[in-house]
Amino acid sequence: MALSQLRLSHFRNIESAELRPAAGLNLIHGANGSGKTSVLEAIWFLGVGRSFRSQQSQRVIQYQQEAFTLFARIGDERMGMQRNRQGEVDVRINGERPQRMADLAKLLPLQLITPESFALLLDGPKARREYIDWGVFHSDIQFHLVWARCRRLLKQRNQLLRNQVEDRQIAIWDKQLAQYSRSLTEMRRAWVNSLNGVLEGIIGTFLPQVPVRVSFSQGWDAKYDIEQILTEQLRRDKQLGYTVSGPHKADLRLRVSNIPVQDVLSRGQLKLLVCALKIAQGVLLSKQHNKQCIYLVDDLASELDAEKRTLLLRQLEQTGSQVFVTAIDPEQLAMIDWQRRFHVEHGEVAAKDS
Ligand SMILES: Nc1ncnc2c1ncn2[C@@H]1O[C@H](COP(=O)(O)OP(=O)(O)OP(=O)(O)O)[C@@H](O)[C@H]1O
Ligand SMILES: [Mg+2]
Repeated sequence: MALSQLRLSHFRNIESAELRPAAGLNLIHGANGSGKTSVLEAIWFLGVGRSFRSQQSQRVIQYQQEAFTLFARIGDERMGMQRNRQGEVDVRINGERPQRMADLAKLLPLQLITPESFALLLDGPKARREYIDWGVFHSDIQFHLVWARCRRLLKQRNQLLRNQVEDRQIAIWDKQLAQYSRSLTEMRRAWVNSLNGVLEGIIGTFLPQVPVRVSFSQGWDAKYDIEQILTEQLRRDKQLGYTVSGPHKADLRLRVSNIPVQDVLSRGQLKLLVCALKIAQGVLLSKQHNKQCIYLVDDLASELDAEKRTLLLRQLEQTGSQVFVTAIDPEQLAMIDWQRRFHVEHGEVAAKDS
Protein backbone atom coordinates (compact mmCIF):
# COMPACT_ATOMS: atom_id res chain seq x y z
CA MET A 1 0.00 0.00 0.00
CA ALA A 2 1.66 3.20 -1.15
CA LEU A 3 0.67 6.65 -2.29
CA SER A 4 1.58 6.97 -5.94
CA GLN A 5 0.20 10.47 -6.30
CA LEU A 6 -0.64 13.29 -3.91
CA ARG A 7 -2.19 16.63 -4.83
CA LEU A 8 -2.66 19.49 -2.39
CA SER A 9 -4.28 22.79 -2.89
CA HIS A 10 -4.68 25.72 -0.51
CA PHE A 11 -3.29 23.65 2.36
CA ARG A 12 -1.27 25.79 4.82
CA ASN A 13 1.32 27.70 2.76
CA ILE A 14 0.99 25.30 -0.18
CA GLU A 15 -1.04 26.99 -2.90
CA SER A 16 -0.82 23.98 -5.14
CA ALA A 17 1.49 20.97 -5.34
CA GLU A 18 1.65 17.56 -6.89
CA LEU A 19 3.94 14.79 -5.69
CA ARG A 20 4.57 11.39 -7.24
CA PRO A 21 6.26 9.63 -4.35
CA ALA A 22 8.27 6.43 -4.60
CA ALA A 23 6.88 3.28 -2.99
CA GLY A 24 9.89 3.20 -0.63
CA LEU A 25 11.89 5.98 0.99
CA ASN A 26 10.93 9.60 0.27
CA LEU A 27 12.81 12.58 1.66
CA ILE A 28 11.18 15.99 1.94
CA HIS A 29 13.70 18.71 2.70
CA GLY A 30 13.73 22.46 2.91
CA ALA A 31 14.27 25.43 5.20
CA ASN A 32 12.26 26.29 8.31
CA GLY A 33 8.73 27.29 7.45
CA SER A 34 8.97 26.05 3.86
CA GLY A 35 6.05 23.58 4.14
CA LYS A 36 7.60 20.16 4.88
CA THR A 37 5.43 19.29 7.88
CA SER A 38 2.42 20.56 5.95
CA VAL A 39 2.92 17.83 3.35
CA LEU A 40 2.86 15.16 6.09
CA GLU A 41 -0.09 16.88 7.70
CA ALA A 42 -1.99 16.67 4.40
CA ILE A 43 -1.38 12.92 4.13
CA TRP A 44 -2.50 12.55 7.76
CA PHE A 45 -5.64 14.56 7.02
CA LEU A 46 -6.54 12.15 4.22
CA GLY A 47 -6.13 9.09 6.42
CA VAL A 48 -7.50 10.40 9.69
CA GLY A 49 -9.80 13.28 8.78
CA ARG A 50 -8.07 15.85 10.98
CA SER A 51 -4.77 17.59 11.60
CA PHE A 52 -2.09 16.41 14.02
CA ARG A 53 -1.17 20.03 14.80
CA SER A 54 -4.38 22.02 15.17
CA GLN A 55 -7.56 21.13 16.99
CA GLN A 56 -9.35 23.46 14.63
CA SER A 57 -9.31 22.01 11.17
CA GLN A 58 -10.00 25.29 9.39
CA ARG A 59 -6.57 26.52 10.55
CA VAL A 60 -4.94 24.45 7.84
CA ILE A 61 -6.84 26.22 5.05
CA GLN A 62 -4.52 28.68 3.35
CA TYR A 63 -5.02 32.28 4.47
CA GLN A 64 -7.54 34.19 2.29
CA GLN A 65 -8.84 30.92 0.81
CA GLU A 66 -12.24 29.32 1.35
CA ALA A 67 -11.29 25.62 1.32
CA PHE A 68 -8.46 23.15 0.91
CA THR A 69 -8.54 20.17 -1.43
CA LEU A 70 -6.52 16.97 -1.22
CA PHE A 71 -6.36 14.08 -3.62
CA ALA A 72 -4.38 10.85 -3.50
CA ARG A 73 -3.99 7.67 -5.43
CA ILE A 74 -3.24 4.50 -3.43
CA GLY A 75 -2.89 1.47 -5.65
CA ASP A 76 -6.09 1.42 -7.67
CA GLU A 77 -8.00 3.53 -5.19
CA ARG A 78 -8.58 7.26 -5.30
CA MET A 79 -9.22 9.42 -2.26
CA GLY A 80 -10.37 13.01 -2.27
CA MET A 81 -11.15 15.49 0.47
CA GLN A 82 -12.32 19.07 0.50
CA ARG A 83 -12.99 21.11 3.60
CA ASN A 84 -14.20 24.70 3.83
CA ARG A 85 -14.14 27.38 6.53
CA GLN A 86 -17.68 26.48 7.61
CA GLY A 87 -16.42 23.00 8.48
CA GLU A 88 -18.24 21.30 5.62
CA VAL A 89 -16.30 18.26 4.50
CA ASP A 90 -16.63 16.36 1.27
CA VAL A 91 -14.79 13.05 1.33
CA ARG A 92 -14.71 10.65 -1.59
CA ILE A 93 -13.26 7.21 -2.06
CA ASN A 94 -13.35 6.29 -5.74
CA GLY A 95 -15.92 9.00 -6.27
CA GLU A 96 -18.29 7.69 -3.56
CA ARG A 97 -18.95 9.12 -0.12
CA PRO A 98 -17.69 6.65 2.51
CA GLN A 99 -20.10 5.66 5.30
CA ARG A 100 -17.67 6.36 8.11
CA MET A 101 -14.44 8.28 8.57
CA ALA A 102 -12.96 4.97 9.76
CA ASP A 103 -13.08 3.83 6.11
CA LEU A 104 -10.32 6.34 5.38
CA ALA A 105 -8.09 4.76 8.01
CA LYS A 106 -8.69 1.30 6.56
CA LEU A 107 -7.56 2.45 3.16
CA LEU A 108 -4.66 4.55 4.38
CA PRO A 109 -3.13 3.16 7.61
CA LEU A 110 -0.58 5.70 8.81
CA GLN A 111 2.12 5.80 11.44
CA LEU A 112 3.19 9.27 12.49
CA ILE A 113 6.39 10.15 14.32
CA THR A 114 6.96 13.82 15.14
CA PRO A 115 9.07 15.61 17.74
CA GLU A 116 5.84 15.78 19.77
CA SER A 117 5.40 12.00 19.73
CA PHE A 118 7.13 11.86 23.13
CA ALA A 119 3.66 12.51 24.44
CA LEU A 120 2.96 8.81 23.91
CA LEU A 121 5.35 8.07 26.77
CA LEU A 122 5.16 11.24 28.85
CA ASP A 123 1.43 11.96 28.92
CA GLY A 124 -1.37 10.02 30.60
CA PRO A 125 -2.69 6.65 29.46
CA LYS A 126 -5.13 8.03 26.84
CA ALA A 127 -2.53 8.21 24.06
CA ARG A 128 -1.25 4.72 24.83
CA ARG A 129 -4.80 3.34 24.92
CA GLU A 130 -5.38 4.90 21.51
CA TYR A 131 -2.12 3.32 20.35
CA ILE A 132 -3.36 -0.14 21.39
CA ASP A 133 -6.78 0.50 19.89
CA TRP A 134 -5.30 1.53 16.56
CA GLY A 135 -3.65 -1.89 16.41
CA VAL A 136 -6.77 -3.79 17.43
CA PHE A 137 -8.92 -1.74 15.06
CA HIS A 138 -6.81 -2.84 12.12
CA SER A 139 -6.52 -6.44 13.23
CA ASP A 140 -10.03 -7.36 14.39
CA ILE A 141 -13.16 -6.43 12.44
CA GLN A 142 -15.28 -6.78 15.61
CA PHE A 143 -13.28 -4.15 17.45
CA HIS A 144 -15.03 -1.01 16.29
CA LEU A 145 -18.46 -2.28 17.25
CA VAL A 146 -17.38 -3.64 20.64
CA TRP A 147 -15.43 -0.47 21.44
CA ALA A 148 -18.33 1.80 20.44
CA ARG A 149 -20.81 -0.25 22.56
CA CYS A 150 -18.51 -0.11 25.56
CA ARG A 151 -18.16 3.61 25.21
CA ARG A 152 -21.90 4.14 24.96
CA LEU A 153 -22.69 1.85 27.88
CA LEU A 154 -20.12 3.64 30.04
CA LYS A 155 -21.60 6.99 29.16
CA GLN A 156 -25.06 5.73 30.08
CA ARG A 157 -23.78 4.25 33.34
CA ASN A 158 -22.11 7.53 34.31
CA GLN A 159 -25.36 9.34 33.60
CA LEU A 160 -27.28 6.88 35.83
CA LEU A 161 -24.66 7.31 38.57
CA ARG A 162 -25.07 11.07 38.45
CA ASN A 163 -28.86 10.73 38.55
CA GLN A 164 -28.54 8.50 41.66
CA VAL A 165 -30.65 5.79 40.03
CA GLU A 166 -31.42 2.67 42.13
CA ASP A 167 -28.63 0.08 42.35
CA ARG A 168 -30.62 -2.77 40.79
CA GLN A 169 -31.34 -0.67 37.74
CA ILE A 170 -27.64 0.04 37.27
CA ALA A 171 -26.89 -3.66 37.76
CA ILE A 172 -28.93 -4.48 34.63
CA TRP A 173 -26.71 -2.16 32.56
CA ASP A 174 -23.59 -3.49 34.25
CA LYS A 175 -24.23 -6.98 32.88
CA GLN A 176 -24.01 -5.66 29.33
CA LEU A 177 -21.12 -3.36 30.09
CA ALA A 178 -19.21 -6.25 31.67
CA GLN A 179 -19.80 -8.43 28.63
CA TYR A 180 -18.43 -5.87 26.18
CA SER A 181 -15.61 -4.92 28.53
CA ARG A 182 -14.42 -8.53 28.64
CA SER A 183 -14.48 -8.82 24.84
CA LEU A 184 -12.67 -5.52 24.38
CA THR A 185 -10.05 -6.48 26.96
CA GLU A 186 -9.41 -9.87 25.38
CA MET A 187 -8.90 -8.27 21.97
CA ARG A 188 -6.50 -5.71 23.43
CA ARG A 189 -4.59 -8.32 25.43
CA ALA A 190 -4.17 -10.61 22.44
CA TRP A 191 -2.93 -7.72 20.33
CA VAL A 192 -0.40 -6.53 22.93
CA ASN A 193 0.91 -10.11 23.24
CA SER A 194 1.49 -10.26 19.49
CA LEU A 195 3.01 -6.78 19.53
CA ASN A 196 5.51 -7.78 22.19
CA GLY A 197 6.90 -10.48 19.91
CA VAL A 198 7.74 -7.87 17.27
CA LEU A 199 8.65 -5.05 19.63
CA GLU A 200 11.34 -6.96 21.52
CA GLY A 201 13.50 -7.30 18.42
CA ILE A 202 13.20 -3.64 17.45
CA ILE A 203 13.86 -2.36 20.98
CA GLY A 204 16.83 -4.73 21.11
CA THR A 205 18.23 -3.04 18.00
CA PHE A 206 17.53 0.55 19.06
CA LEU A 207 18.28 0.27 22.77
CA PRO A 208 20.46 -2.82 23.22
CA GLN A 209 21.63 -1.88 26.72
CA VAL A 210 18.20 -0.98 28.06
CA PRO A 211 15.89 -3.77 29.22
CA VAL A 212 12.50 -2.19 28.48
CA ARG A 213 9.51 -4.23 29.61
CA VAL A 214 6.13 -3.66 28.00
CA SER A 215 2.97 -4.93 29.64
CA PHE A 216 -0.76 -4.49 29.28
CA SER A 217 -2.81 -3.03 32.08
CA GLN A 218 -6.50 -3.72 31.48
CA GLY A 219 -8.01 -0.93 33.61
CA TRP A 220 -8.99 -2.89 36.72
CA ASP A 221 -7.39 -5.48 39.00
CA ALA A 222 -6.96 -8.52 36.75
CA LYS A 223 -7.66 -10.90 39.66
CA TYR A 224 -11.33 -9.95 39.50
CA ASP A 225 -14.06 -10.08 36.90
CA ILE A 226 -15.23 -6.66 35.74
CA GLU A 227 -18.83 -7.28 36.85
CA GLN A 228 -17.65 -7.90 40.40
CA ILE A 229 -15.56 -4.73 40.29
CA LEU A 230 -18.50 -2.66 39.02
CA THR A 231 -20.74 -4.03 41.79
CA GLU A 232 -18.19 -3.55 44.54
CA GLN A 233 -17.30 -0.04 43.46
CA LEU A 234 -20.85 1.11 42.81
CA ARG A 235 -21.13 3.12 46.02
CA ARG A 236 -17.90 4.99 45.33
CA ASP A 237 -18.78 5.46 41.65
CA LYS A 238 -22.11 6.98 42.74
CA GLN A 239 -20.34 9.40 45.07
CA LEU A 240 -17.94 10.45 42.32
CA GLY A 241 -20.49 10.45 39.52
CA TYR A 242 -18.39 8.34 37.18
CA THR A 243 -17.05 4.80 36.73
CA VAL A 244 -13.59 4.56 38.25
CA SER A 245 -12.44 1.19 36.86
CA GLY A 246 -12.97 -0.45 33.51
CA PRO A 247 -11.57 -0.80 30.01
CA HIS A 248 -11.60 3.00 29.67
CA LYS A 249 -8.62 2.98 32.06
CA ALA A 250 -6.52 0.48 30.09
CA ASP A 251 -2.87 1.34 29.54
CA LEU A 252 0.37 0.09 28.07
CA ARG A 253 3.05 0.09 30.78
CA LEU A 254 6.63 0.65 29.72
CA ARG A 255 9.27 0.16 32.37
CA VAL A 256 13.00 -0.24 32.82
CA SER A 257 13.96 -2.11 36.00
CA ASN A 258 10.40 -1.57 37.14
CA ILE A 259 10.65 2.23 36.80
CA PRO A 260 8.47 4.08 34.25
CA VAL A 261 10.56 4.80 31.15
CA GLN A 262 9.92 8.54 31.31
CA ASP A 263 11.83 8.68 34.63
CA VAL A 264 14.85 6.80 33.32
CA LEU A 265 15.46 7.24 29.61
CA SER A 266 17.23 10.14 27.88
CA ARG A 267 15.46 12.25 25.24
CA GLY A 268 17.10 10.35 22.40
CA GLN A 269 16.28 7.02 24.01
CA LEU A 270 12.66 8.07 24.50
CA LYS A 271 12.46 9.07 20.85
CA LEU A 272 13.87 5.71 19.78
CA LEU A 273 11.38 3.91 21.99
CA VAL A 274 8.49 5.85 20.43
CA CYS A 275 9.85 4.96 16.98
CA ALA A 276 10.14 1.31 18.01
CA LEU A 277 6.50 1.30 19.15
CA LYS A 278 5.26 2.87 15.93
CA ILE A 279 7.35 0.67 13.67
CA ALA A 280 6.34 -2.46 15.58
CA GLN A 281 2.68 -1.55 15.10
CA GLY A 282 3.20 -1.33 11.34
CA VAL A 283 5.28 -4.51 11.17
CA LEU A 284 2.59 -6.42 13.07
CA LEU A 285 -0.10 -5.17 10.70
CA SER A 286 1.84 -6.38 7.70
CA LYS A 287 2.65 -9.74 9.37
CA GLN A 288 -0.91 -10.44 10.47
CA HIS A 289 -2.88 -8.92 7.63
CA ASN A 290 -0.43 -8.37 4.84
CA LYS A 291 -1.26 -4.65 4.94
CA GLN A 292 1.43 -2.02 4.78
CA CYS A 293 1.37 1.17 6.81
CA ILE A 294 2.75 4.39 5.49
CA TYR A 295 5.26 6.01 7.85
CA LEU A 296 5.38 9.77 8.26
CA VAL A 297 8.47 10.90 10.15
CA ASP A 298 8.73 14.61 10.79
CA ASP A 299 12.18 15.99 11.59
CA LEU A 300 13.76 12.55 11.90
CA ALA A 301 17.18 13.95 12.81
CA SER A 302 16.09 15.80 15.95
CA GLU A 303 17.41 14.36 19.23
CA LEU A 304 19.34 11.59 17.45
CA ASP A 305 23.07 11.17 16.80
CA ALA A 306 24.33 9.99 13.41
CA GLU A 307 24.51 6.34 14.45
CA LYS A 308 20.94 6.31 15.76
CA ARG A 309 19.63 8.12 12.69
CA THR A 310 21.18 5.39 10.56
CA LEU A 311 19.66 2.66 12.74
CA LEU A 312 16.24 4.24 12.51
CA LEU A 313 16.40 4.74 8.75
CA ARG A 314 17.57 1.17 8.19
CA GLN A 315 14.75 -0.15 10.34
CA LEU A 316 12.21 1.93 8.41
CA GLU A 317 13.72 0.70 5.14
CA GLN A 318 13.46 -2.90 6.33
CA THR A 319 9.71 -2.61 6.79
CA GLY A 320 9.42 -2.44 3.00
CA SER A 321 6.77 0.25 3.49
CA GLN A 322 6.43 3.67 2.01
CA VAL A 323 8.16 6.24 4.20
CA PHE A 324 8.07 10.03 4.15
CA VAL A 325 10.81 11.74 6.14
CA THR A 326 11.30 15.47 6.55
CA ALA A 327 14.61 17.19 7.20
CA ILE A 328 15.98 20.70 7.14
CA ASP A 329 19.41 19.54 6.06
CA PRO A 330 19.46 16.50 3.74
CA GLU A 331 23.17 16.06 4.48
CA GLN A 332 22.21 14.80 7.95
CA LEU A 333 20.39 11.90 6.32
CA ALA A 334 22.81 11.17 3.50
CA MET A 335 23.66 7.71 4.87
CA ILE A 336 20.74 6.13 3.03
CA ASP A 337 19.71 5.84 -0.61
CA TRP A 338 16.56 7.86 -0.98
CA GLN A 339 14.31 6.65 -3.74
CA ARG A 340 12.91 10.11 -4.21
CA ARG A 341 13.63 13.53 -2.84
CA PHE A 342 11.42 16.59 -2.76
CA HIS A 343 12.64 20.07 -2.09
CA VAL A 344 10.18 22.49 -0.54
CA GLU A 345 10.61 26.24 -0.74
CA HIS A 346 7.96 28.81 0.21
CA GLY A 347 5.21 26.23 -0.27
CA GLU A 348 6.48 25.06 -3.67
CA VAL A 349 7.30 21.36 -3.84
CA ALA A 350 9.79 20.16 -6.46
CA ALA A 351 10.98 16.59 -7.12
CA LYS A 352 14.77 16.22 -7.16
CA ASP A 353 16.76 13.51 -8.86
CA SER A 354 18.13 11.01 -6.38
N1 LIG B 1 -3.32 28.53 7.12
C1 LIG B 1 -2.13 28.90 6.64
N2 LIG B 1 -2.06 29.58 5.46
C2 LIG B 1 -0.86 29.96 4.96
N3 LIG B 1 0.32 29.69 5.56
C3 LIG B 1 0.29 29.02 6.72
C4 LIG B 1 -0.92 28.60 7.32
N4 LIG B 1 -0.64 27.93 8.47
C5 LIG B 1 0.69 27.96 8.58
N5 LIG B 1 1.27 28.61 7.55
C6 LIG B 1 2.69 28.80 7.24
O1 LIG B 1 3.07 27.67 6.49
C7 LIG B 1 4.48 27.51 6.55
C8 LIG B 1 4.81 26.05 6.53
O2 LIG B 1 4.82 25.49 7.78
P1 LIG B 1 5.46 24.04 8.05
O3 LIG B 1 5.23 23.78 9.49
O4 LIG B 1 4.95 23.07 7.07
O5 LIG B 1 7.02 24.28 7.76
P2 LIG B 1 8.24 23.30 7.88
O6 LIG B 1 8.90 23.26 6.55
O7 LIG B 1 7.82 22.03 8.47
O8 LIG B 1 9.19 24.11 8.88
P3 LIG B 1 10.14 23.63 10.09
O9 LIG B 1 11.42 23.17 9.48
O10 LIG B 1 10.33 24.87 10.87
O11 LIG B 1 9.44 22.57 10.84
C9 LIG B 1 4.94 28.31 7.74
O12 LIG B 1 5.67 29.40 7.24
C10 LIG B 1 3.65 28.78 8.40
O13 LIG B 1 3.78 30.05 8.95
MG1 LIG C 1 8.20 21.19 10.31
